[in-house]
Amino acid sequence: MHTKLYLLALCLLTAPVVVGQAEQHGQSHADHLERHFDAEESAQRFDDPARDAWQLPDQVIAALNLKRGQTVADIGAGTGYFTVRLAKTKASPRVYAADIEPSMVKYLRERAAKEGLDNVIAIQASPDGLNLPEPVNLILIVNTYHHIGDRETYFRRLAKSIRSGGQVAIIDFKPDSPVGPPKEFRFPPEQFRSEMGKAGYKVTARHHFLPRQEFLIFEVASNPSP
Ligand SMILES: C[S@@+](CC[C@H](N)C(=O)[O-])C[C@H]1O[C@@H](n2cnc3c(N)ncnc32)[C@H](O)[C@@H]1O
Repeated sequence: MHTKLYLLALCLLTAPVVVGQAEQHGQSHADHLERHFDAEESAQRFDDPARDAWQLPDQVIAALNLKRGQTVADIGAGTGYFTVRLAKTKASPRVYAADIEPSMVKYLRERAAKEGLDNVIAIQASPDGLNLPEPVNLILIVNTYHHIGDRETYFRRLAKSIRSGGQVAIIDFKPDSPVGPPKEFRFPPEQFRSEMGKAGYKVTARHHFLPRQEFLIFEVASNPSP
């Protein structure tokens, strides 16, 4: 339970709010740990139109190069910032929007229904893996990689959810980003490469156009051990 609250608190810290603002409002780190997660409140931050200026969602989605008939899993989908945009593209992929937080899953389900997106399926994720009904062509992980605990084990297991030739796209805050999680949860590109390498993946592309985040694409390099 404590771990879950900790992950949720970290999530709030990764919202586009300058780290340290919480302290300015008299909120300690401990308060964050005990704070209950609220999907509606998060939506205001995650889906703030001002985010588009640095998140560049259209460019990100173009770089993912999705084809019609393909399937995607958005891990740590939050309130659906990328899920909804992906689902509305010309390729119209089936998008599994997975989140560990039940209130987010409920929000995602309701948002998909409200926006008439039959190709969005909200999935309850667990801390150690995904329970997708089918393997997918693309796994997208935005501002969530740093929340995952034992990443080597997690990504080894995740390989079974990826179709042959499929990709894992990871976007997460750079160490020098003006916003993002605490410094210890921001990684240089070598760390993503090294951790994903240990889990059985190789990097196939690194995009440099996001001002605040690393954007790396991986594919399975070898058969991961069970
Ligand atoms: C900072 S939010 C990012 C949301 C969304 N990707 C975006 O860019 O707007 C991180 C999300 O990851 C979820 N999360 C944390 N750990 C997770 C895990 N192991 N599996 C799935 N979701 C997770 C949180 O509940 C939260 O909704």
